[in-house]
Amino acid sequence: MTARKILVTSALPYANGAIHLGHLVEYIQTDIWARFQKMRGHDCWYVCADDTHGTPIMLRAEKEGITPEALIRRVHGEHARDFAGFHVAFDNYYSTHSDETRHYANDIYTKLKAAGLIEVRAIEQFYDPVKQMFLPDRYIKGECPKCNAADQYGDACEACGAAYAPTDLKNPLSAVSGARPELKSSDHYFFKLSDPSCQDFLRRATREVCKAQPEAVNKLQEWLGEPGDNKLTDWDISRDAPYFGFEIPDAPGKYFYVWLDAPIGYMGSFQNLCKRQNLNFDEYWAKDSKAELYHFVGKDILYFHALFWPAELEHAGYRVPTSVFAHGFLTVDGAKMSKSRGTFITAESYLSVGLNPEWLRYYFAAKLNGSMEDIDLNLDDFVSRVNSDLVGKYINIASRAAGFIAKRFGGKLLHSHYIDQFRSDMPGLIEAAEEIAAHYEARDFGRAIRQVMALADQVNQYVDKNQPWVLAKTSEHEELLHYVCTVLINAFRLLTLYLKPILPKLAQRAEEFLNVAPLHWGDAGHLLPPAHPINPYEHLMTRIEAKQIEALLAANRESLAPTPTALPESHSQQRHAEHQQHAARQEVAASPWEPYVSIDDFSKIDLRIARIAEASHVEGADKLIKLTLDLGTETRQVFAGIKSAYDPATLVGRLTVVVANLAPRKMKFGMSEGMVLAASDPEGKTAGLFLLSPDSGAQPGMRVK
Ligand code: MSP
Ligand code: ZN
Repeated sequence: MTARKILVTSALPYANGAIHLGHLVEYIQTDIWARFQKMRGHDCWYVCADDTHGTPIMLRAEKEGITPEALIRRVHGEHARDFAGFHVAFDNYYSTHSDETRHYANDIYTKLKAAGLIEVRAIEQFYDPVKQMFLPDRYIKGECPKCNAADQYGDACEACGAAYAPTDLKNPLSAVSGARPELKSSDHYFFKLSDPSCQDFLRRATREVCKAQPEAVNKLQEWLGEPGDNKLTDWDISRDAPYFGFEIPDAPGKYFYVWLDAPIGYMGSFQNLCKRQNLNFDEYWAKDSKAELYHFVGKDILYFHALFWPAELEHAGYRVPTSVFAHGFLTVDGAKMSKSRGTFITAESYLSVGLNPEWLRYYFAAKLNGSMEDIDLNLDDFVSRVNSDLVGKYINIASRAAGFIAKRFGGKLLHSHYIDQFRSDMPGLIEAAEEIAAHYEARDFGRAIRQVMALADQVNQYVDKNQPWVLAKTSEHEELLHYVCTVLINAFRLLTLYLKPILPKLAQRAEEFLNVAPLHWGDAGHLLPPAHPINPYEHLMTRIEAKQIEALLAANRESLAPTPTALPESHSQQRHAEHQQHAARQEVAASPWEPYVSIDDFSKIDLRIARIAEASHVEGADKLIKLTLDLGTETRQVFAGIKSAYDPATLVGRLTVVVANLAPRKMKFGMSEGMVLAASDPEGKTAGLFLLSPDSGAQPGMRVK
């Protein structure tokens, strides 16, 4: 077999947030694949980096009172720690803020320009006069031009799903300073994707890049449209100062947009690795490269990787990716990760409550099948599958045989040759190697695991049939006992080999126990030699306990802290909903909800259910209604400004919510001893006031929290 040259990447995580379990779906997946390729004996390199540029990172650093360089240095340390904690073994984990990435960004830009594919055009954009910066779409808020919903971002409305330009928003405000933005013109640099040479290329080549995934090909088709549709418009690749990024070589004050240099970070990280490992960069990136190049990405950034990135590479004279492998999003117990439920789980918290990273690697692998479907972490299923499969079926094989080998046979396996007998007693166990390999190769890890677990079942049936503990009772079955235990140790070795890409740390400890060199795929073709000595068995893996999961959720639960809202899954009006979802995630760091209140602050407010016992007009007041509220143990008089929306007669008898510990206030018409809660549009554009009411069953006096 000749060794393939393979370069593998995972998307570069933004340097302004913690790694969470959603990210890990990708990094664990890529790591399993890269480890598998290495076990097969290929020259496989796995590189990644932090994605360090852009407005959110700049603003985040400013907020923390540090330089962007200091921020990205710190986060790089945190990310590297988290990945190592989950045994994600990059050959290089670098940064896009590097000389290498700058070099290739300049190089690609210069070549695109020479090819006539860069165009400068003045565009009008919102500018924050206080902050003195142009505002990205997500930093402008206002009312939806379509449905008037308040507090919508500059690119799309979360209420009605409309997509629009920030300049369409009504009453726009800067989310950075709160100032009213002004329209200002500035020169921007565009990559001419609408150019016929780009369109032709994309139509021909990008399907090839996505051919492993029919769903991805459909997406591409949707984005590209039919020839002549001209759906793909030129791509704005510049941003004005102030911006944290690389200045464009021939354009002072203009910076590369973060998404221009981010994928170039793959090249930068690899170039950095080449220096250390004495590799030849061109062998992997030159136009005529024979090496394979694979990008693992989430479906939200497929757009960048399957369209923009190959177009950049092609027209700058580099090779294009062999394939882009897109995966779906993680849900926890069937729902989006949520801070209030405690299911927005950080990598760090998982490890710090003492959960074993290989449990998660195993579970994710069991769920992955190489498609773009979302994958669900069902916490009950997680516990039972790890305990029953991993510990119950696989680990137990070793523990059942090891004791006898140590105590009865001096720690050595059978002295005679046993491979033929093994093949007939354990049919398929050796022969499965190539089939399992094919599942790994196709990224269908779920299928690989199902096959391995079926083999483990077979081994356990063998144990039950031969009952080594019965054979051990007398000395007449000594030879058979030795053989049975030798079979089990060999079976355990093969299962370990098959699971090694998923469970690297466990495999390493198993190799120590088995007293063998690190297992490669080719080792499946033989068994341990006769009289092979093994080491004393030490327990390899414990079971998960339910209380560990409770601790995990508690560690991540942020009761009532506002969670960043993401855009709805898909809108027909939106050209690339995933891409916009992506923008939503990227910028959660600079949340318009800050400063947050703590749960302690919130719990100072005593909210109670109240029954409206009486309601009447107030002489001389044109907004107020006088309410008498029954709080169960007492009654209160409250003046509520809801006259424009309610007729007092219709209010009597209904339940609502009152702030019970609001300081009493003397009003012109008498004391007001609390406040009832109602919803309204802050700008008053949408008419109406809507009094809150609890679900049926609530009783006056109940606490609301
Ligand atoms: N910085 C960009 C990628 C640039 S690549 C040249 C980015 N960063 S990210 O931190 O937002 O996401 C990194 C990767 O993690 C992406 O592939 C993204 O799809 C993936 N995931 C982030 N959250 C995820 C889930 N909840 N579930 C599965 N994958 C997720 O995008
Ligand atoms: Zn709307």
